Amino acid sequence: MLILGIETSCDETAAAVVRADAPKGGRVVSEAILSQLDEHRPYGGVVPEIAARSHLDHIDALVAQAMEQAGIGFADLDALAVTAGPGLIGGVIVGVMTAKAIAAVHRKPLVAVNHLEGHALTPRLSDDVPFPYLLLLVSGGHCQILAVEDVGRYRRLGTTIDDAAGEAFDKVAKMLGLGYPGGPALQKAAERGDPRRFDLPRPMKGRPGCDFSFSGLKTSVRQTVEKMPPGPLSEQDKADLAAGFQAALVDSVRDRVKKAIILFKELYPHGTALVTAGGVAANVPLRASLKALAAQADLDFVAPPLKWCTDNAAMIAWAGAEHLRRGAVSSLDFKPRPRWPL
Ligand code: KG4
Ligand code: ZN
Repeated sequence: MLILGIETSCDETAAAVVRADAPKGGRVVSEAILSQLDEHRPYGGVVPEIAARSHLDHIDALVAQAMEQAGIGFADLDALAVTAGPGLIGGVIVGVMTAKAIAAVHRKPLVAVNHLEGHALTPRLSDDVPFPYLLLLVSGGHCQILAVEDVGRYRRLGTTIDDAAGEAFDKVAKMLGLGYPGGPALQKAAERGDPRRFDLPRPMKGRPGCDFSFSGLKTSVRQTVEKMPPGPLSEQDKADLAAGFQAALVDSVRDRVKKAIILFKELYPHGTALVTAGGVAANVPLRASLKALAAQADLDFVAPPLKWCTDNAAMIAWAGAEHLRRGAVSSLDFKPRPRWPL
C-alpha cells in the first residue's frame, strides 16, 4: 500500500511516500521537506500570510521530489493523505487543493487527516506501539495528554489552560534575546546555566487533574528580568534564567504526566507505553525525565526519531494508512478546518 502524504499546516512544506504494509524501519520510502524558518525569523514567529504563499511556491516541487525519490508515478499510488487541519488555514488550503487535484486527476482515494492525529499515531509508524498507549503531545501550538485507544479514538486526559509548552519556550527565548526558534536555542543556553540561581514557580504542581499552565512561569521569568540591574543581561544571566525556566517547565510537565500515568493505568490496565511527540519532545532534559517516569511505572518509553517528532509528511501518510486499513476514505468535497479538536 503506497501512500503520498502532504503537510502544509504550519511552517514546514512537506511531502512523503509511505509503504504502509512494509515492516517498521522500511516504511518511509521518500521524504521531501522545506522549512520556512528563514522567512519567518525576522518577525520572531510564523507569519500566516508568508507561510501560505511559501507553501504555494514550493509544494509542487516537493511533491515531485518525493515521487521521484520513491521512483514512482502518481498512477502507482494506492491513495493520498493530506493535513486538513487544525493549522494556519492559508497553508492548509494549499495542501488540500494540491492533494485534491492529484486525487481527482488520477482517480485515487484521498484521506483528510487531522494534524494532531498524525502526531498521535507516529509511534506506530516508527515502533509498532500497540493500542492503547499514553501520549504526551507537546509542540508550538499544542500541549495535551491523550490516551490513544485506537485510530480515531482519543481520550483527552489533560490540556494546557493557557500557552502550549513550545510557545512558552519560544516566548521566554525571545525575552532573553536567544533567537528564533526559541526551544533549541534555550536548551543550548541552559546547558551553561545554574537552574537554582532563580526561584521560579512549578505551575500546577500537586494540583488534581492533568492540565498544564505555563503563562505564570513565563510572567515570573519576565518579572525576574525586570528586577535585575538596568542594562543588558549578561551571558551568564541568560544561561541561568534559561536553565531555571527549563527546569521549572520540565518539573511541571513531569508532575502532570505522573498523574496521567496513574489515571491511564486505572483506565487501561493492559496499556504498555508512554509515548511523546511534537517539537518539544526534542528537548533532552524533558525526554530524560519522561524516560525515568516510564521506567518507574513499568511502561515502555517511546519517542519517535526527531525528524518525525516535528512536523512532517510521513506521519500524515501513515495516519492516512491507518484510516484506509479500516476502510475510511474522505469524499473529495471535504473542507479544510482551521480548528479541529481530536
Ligand atoms: O511540532 P513542531 O515542529 O511544530 C508545531 O508547533 O506543530 O514544534 C515546534 C516547537 C517550537 O515551539 C520549538 O521551539 C519547540 O517545538 N522545540 C523545542 C526544542 N526543539 C523544538 N522546545 C524545547 N527544546 C527543544 N530542543
Ligand atoms: Zn505539529
